[in-house]
Amino acid sequence: MSRLEFPREFHWGAATASYQIEGSWNVDGKGESIWDRFSHTPGNVKKGDTGDRACDSYRRQSEDVALLRELGLTSYRFSIAWPRIQPSGRGAAHAKGLDHYGKLADALLEAGIRPFPTLYHWDLPQALEDDGGWPERDLAGRFADYAELVTRALGDRISDWMIFNEPNVFTALGYLLGIHAPGRRDFEGFLRAVHNVNRAQGEAFRAMKAVRGDLRIGTAFNFSDCQPAGDAEADAAAARRWHNFTNEAFLRPTLRGTYPPLFRDGSVPIDLMDVRDGDLDVAQVPLDFVGVNLYTRTLVEDVPEDDNLGARPVLGREEGPLTDFGWEVWPDALYNVLVWISEEFGRPVLEITENGCSYADGPGPDGKVHDTRRTEFYRGYLEAVHRAIAAGADVRGYHAWSLLDNFEWAEGYEQRFGLVHVDFDTCERTIKESARWYARVVAENGFDV
Ligand code: FCB
Repeated sequence: MSRLEFPREFHWGAATASYQIEGSWNVDGKGESIWDRFSHTPGNVKKGDTGDRACDSYRRQSEDVALLRELGLTSYRFSIAWPRIQPSGRGAAHAKGLDHYGKLADALLEAGIRPFPTLYHWDLPQALEDDGGWPERDLAGRFADYAELVTRALGDRISDWMIFNEPNVFTALGYLLGIHAPGRRDFEGFLRAVHNVNRAQGEAFRAMKAVRGDLRIGTAFNFSDCQPAGDAEADAAAARRWHNFTNEAFLRPTLRGTYPPLFRDGSVPIDLMDVRDGDLDVAQVPLDFVGVNLYTRTLVEDVPEDDNLGARPVLGREEGPLTDFGWEVWPDALYNVLVWISEEFGRPVLEITENGCSYADGPGPDGKVHDTRRTEFYRGYLEAVHRAIAAGADVRGYHAWSLLDNFEWAEGYEQRFGLVHVDFDTCERTIKESARWYARVVAENGFDV
């Protein structure tokens, strides 16, 4: 047996997002978000589920903080709902919205837990989508205004921030595939959205630093270890294209001011994306850390008839066990991606901002949730994080997705990712056995393997 020790002052946390847990979708002056509209439209979410109540966390803030405290966590990643701060996406900050998150930050600090908010975890004010949403250039400036308002109000208490959650996911699923809000299927709109989100991130970063130069600001990017599905060279090339698209379309403009090749012929579709002079200087910012959301690897195959990306993920050739979501458990994916970012981008500070698994286990006859597969998942991925640190990656924190079972977007309440079980009839919370295991790792800053 050997012991894996993590660096001193490593942040041990859990993550959530506003729309997935808060509920109270129309109280205290909150504006409608694209997820309210999308989930209220029949056919978009499994079983017609909505986030109207979710985990009721808006009203159970102190219960959630008590759970974090009971588990001994030292960092809580949550997100701020833009339509609570600017109900129509414009204008002065709404005091009740700011107050809600101010109280949460105070309660966390009081409990010795770092508040670690994301400004945008997908709940765009519907009014801004009505004006065209992320494909519109103007939204970058609107977003920077919102970022500035929040920082002015809360920057005295909150030092570490994330601007976006998973730009590649919300642009692709929301504007290209129509699976997430706002449910559009518009190839060119999607390409413009990608570019505008990169511009928005740069503008927001500068606006926030202008308010307080000492804030630490990053973004939670979504990554996957992209590997060829077969032996053919064409699949290897497809995997590289999928990698560029998934892992680099946002990270490279941010850190290096350039787009990677995005299309099969090696081009960047700058006309379709509406890339204008000076835009990439706006997008490029020295993030204080790179947030890493990672769940699995992706096996990729060539799609010869497609001249654009010409690649797609394949299912059915996985070698590792699958979670209830069908995602392959593959801890090396996390190791590979951490080491790749570190080597490729000059050893930036890294925070693991999401990692976790969905298993439907609920309370058994003894009232406990014996979710052994989740414990094994965390054990494997944390071992991979430890190995990446030993290989030189500067990882400062780890956040389990998620603190609570919650509204899993288009999947509704079926996929349970929580360390804590939630009964969606009563909103009662039950700490799972995996969370007890995680709490011991946190208390000891390591574990035996
Ligand atoms: C990520 C999202 C998060 C959650 C997990 C399972 O893509 O950031 O909100 O849904 O997946």
